[in-house]
Amino acid sequence: MDSPSTTRKLKLGIVGIGVGASEILPQMEQIPEFQLVAAADVNPRVLQTFRQRYGAKTYDSIEKLCNDPAVEAVWVSTPNKFHAAHSIIAANHGKHVVVEKPMAVTLAEAEQMIEASIKNKIKLLCGHTQSFGSHIRTMRRIIRSGELGRLCALHVWAYTDWMLRPRTAEELDITQGGGVPYRQGPHQIDTLRLLGGGMVRSVRGTIGQWFKGRPIPGYYSAFIEFEDGTPATLMHNGYGYFLASELVPWGGQNSRYSEIERAAIRKSLLDGSRDENADKDDMRIGGSKEREVFRRGAPGKPWLPNDLGILVATCERGDIRQSQYGLYVHSDEGTKDIPLVGGGGPSRRGELIELYEAVVLDKPIRHTGPWGLATLEVCLAIMQSAKERKEVMLSHQVPAPEAD
Ligand SMILES: NC(=O)c1ccc[n+]([C@@H]2O[C@H](COP(=O)([O-])OP(=O)(O)OC[C@H]3O[C@@H](n4cnc5c(N)ncnc54)[C@H](O)[C@@H]3O)[C@@H](O)[C@H]2O)c1
Repeated sequence: MDSPSTTRKLKLGIVGIGVGASEILPQMEQIPEFQLVAAADVNPRVLQTFRQRYGAKTYDSIEKLCNDPAVEAVWVSTPNKFHAAHSIIAANHGKHVVVEKPMAVTLAEAEQMIEASIKNKIKLLCGHTQSFGSHIRTMRRIIRSGELGRLCALHVWAYTDWMLRPRTAEELDITQGGGVPYRQGPHQIDTLRLLGGGMVRSVRGTIGQWFKGRPIPGYYSAFIEFEDGTPATLMHNGYGYFLASELVPWGGQNSRYSEIERAAIRKSLLDGSRDENADKDDMRIGGSKEREVFRRGAPGKPWLPNDLGILVATCERGDIRQSQYGLYVHSDEGTKDIPLVGGGGPSRRGELIELYEAVVLDKPIRHTGPWGLATLEVCLAIMQSAKERKEVMLSHQVPAPEAD
């Protein structure tokens, strides 16, 4: 994706300088068109690090951040239960909003966020899913070019250690948006919707919760059917015994925790000896693990099927999937490996550019409020279908944007 074509800086404020922020900040630092002017959090330690590192203002509440006239856009990266309230406060102060996935915990909240964005004439971007990445968008371009015939099926499959990463109390409560379906569903659903055209007709899903050390679901799987009949399946198992990265030859021991560490974490969760708050704080800015987890290695590292998983798009005359640094296209002409600028892995750059172009250049947003709400609808339908043990019909779907 091209860089923005003007040098006017977008003045950004962040609310919630947590683990998610630790991941996005290194990428924000590399885009000169962004200026971090302020942040808000309730954790004094991260506020102090933020102030020292960025020379930016810090506040102990979203309201104070939004009263700062220097802030043009607010990145909402607080726990899921606050996404709606914090986005609406920012919108009511005339700030543009990027909200982390999931957009909200309920459809009613998502509708209120959209209403606030319309009423206040601000841009609302439903951020952070892997569908912003060049790997997914290039896959979409190949599908839409028709060179492999029509799209016939989509499958995405993730085995991760998501359930073993440190969690706060709210992340361990499904009513507050905790668990793999809420947290990881949006990555796979957004991706499938972007590739499949957006309009999901129905969902049959199931969720699973079988590790006693975690009171939230660590598994889901679902069959979704698009309006045009295209089928798709999605699955995420976050329990961390087998990791899908082991399936690629370059996967090796590239995971966050070794097999021995994963077993030790499970044991400590069962016997209550893990200090999760300290472990989580270590990954936030200034913590001892921040650098190791979010700032190691140069950009362009080989792709691994981490949180999104292994994704295969099947067309009439071929399949497309991710390669080490790009995409494999398997067809009657053999297998082509198409390299991608910056490697094949996920990057938050696409999201940052989309925000910049929307606010500064007034370009249309692809990941709009209604788009985010439609993804949330699928996510909720997986959980509803699991409870009712039947297919759920959808009614809030919107088509994928025309623009690549
Ligand atoms: N981008 C990513 O890869 C990524 C990774 C993890 C999480 N996330 C998303 O980020 C969000 C937060 O998750 P996290 O893992 O960063 O959790 P976290 O607990 O590390 O971060 C949340 C931050 O919000 C702060 N906070 C809590 N209540 C607040 C309030 N009322 N006002 C201001 N600040 C408040 C906390 O102190 C904390 O620093 C979630 O929506 C999650 O889905 C994204």
